[in-house]
Amino acid sequence: MKNSHRESRTYISMFVPGFENIIENAIARRIGPIQAKQINSGMIVYMYGGSPQEIIDLDVVKNTFLCLQTFSDPVDFSKMVRQVSESRLNYPAQVMGIGRGHSFRVRYSYANQFHKVAAGVMKSAENKVSRDLCLTPNRVNPDLEFWYIIRSEKIGFYTFLLTRGTSSVKAGETKGKLTPELASLIIEWAQIPPNKTIMDPFAGYGGLADRLVSLNSFKRLFLFDIESEKIQGLYHQLGDKKNIVIKKQDARFLNSLTPESIDAVITDPPWGSYESIDVEQFYTETLIEILRVLKTHGKMILLVSERIDMDRIVFPFPLRLTNRTNTLVNGKKAIIYSYQKLPRTPNA
Ligand SMILES: C[S@@+](CC[C@H](N)C(=O)[O-])C[C@H]1O[C@@H](n2cnc3c(N)ncnc32)[C@H](O)[C@@H]1O
Repeated sequence: MKNSHRESRTYISMFVPGFENIIENAIARRIGPIQAKQINSGMIVYMYGGSPQEIIDLDVVKNTFLCLQTFSDPVDFSKMVRQVSESRLNYPAQVMGIGRGHSFRVRYSYANQFHKVAAGVMKSAENKVSRDLCLTPNRVNPDLEFWYIIRSEKIGFYTFLLTRGTSSVKAGETKGKLTPELASLIIEWAQIPPNKTIMDPFAGYGGLADRLVSLNSFKRLFLFDIESEKIQGLYHQLGDKKNIVIKKQDARFLNSLTPESIDAVITDPPWGSYESIDVEQFYTETLIEILRVLKTHGKMILLVSERIDMDRIVFPFPLRLTNRTNTLVNGKKAIIYSYQKLPRTPNA
């Protein structure tokens, strides 16, 4: 039940960068009102009074932490650990799920990278947790994790990790498949109105399709890919859904579709990193076909490598760029573009 825990607590969630403008709404749409205190690249700090499980299950974020202490100008981990050791902290044991006999470790994250600290600093951080919560340190395979975080924006936190292998959505990721967090954020960002006919012509392992199905807001979904193995996987996952069409088809020849039959295209085409394709020619051929099947005023959302010159590729086409954002896909720089198909001009 939403908002059944009355006391508001401060949480920190990490998400894929590029979605700072929409993350607050995306979270609020899923779990009810939150009060954002700070949003930085890939991180939101917010107050929430509902059940922590709602936060743990969020599909739009990666790690979520309960904030135990904030540092406005963190200099180094040893000072933070000293300050924490001297503080009386309020630990909401229920939120943290702490049980008798649980073990823990303390981790140190500096600008999103794990960081080593001196043995003495580690020991005092562990002593604080053991003393306050009667937990046993286990640096290799602990039940619980406490994190000291220093961000590049020069803010710091002492936190408890809430999402340690707990979310079902975050399990079972396949290499090459978009992560559920990124796919959910792209869909949220795309703002495709409900009850539309949507197509992913490069569906792969179904990263976007999985999340579209969970969000359940489309009328029909067309999923294509050129590889039989991927099509079989999609059948296996989604083949029982009546409003989903799955077909092995080349995105440049969508023969099964009639002109102007699709309201929105949302897709993650090949980037040319592994395939031997002429990227510009491949994208041009694909765009000709997408524009044939896309309705006038329909949306096209593309996730592409930042190395691909989309401005140049779309130049000859009746497309208006409506939004774009820079993001990262497995650490690689990428751009998400949102276009609208313009009506044909009489002499075009
Ligand atoms: C970047 S991957 C998409 C990954 C997908 N978003 C996922 O979550 O699994 C690009 C996909 O395009 C497919 N592909 C490559 N050339 C194609 C073509 N001409 N027509 C249709 N699919 C193609 C590849 O098989 C691959 O699955």
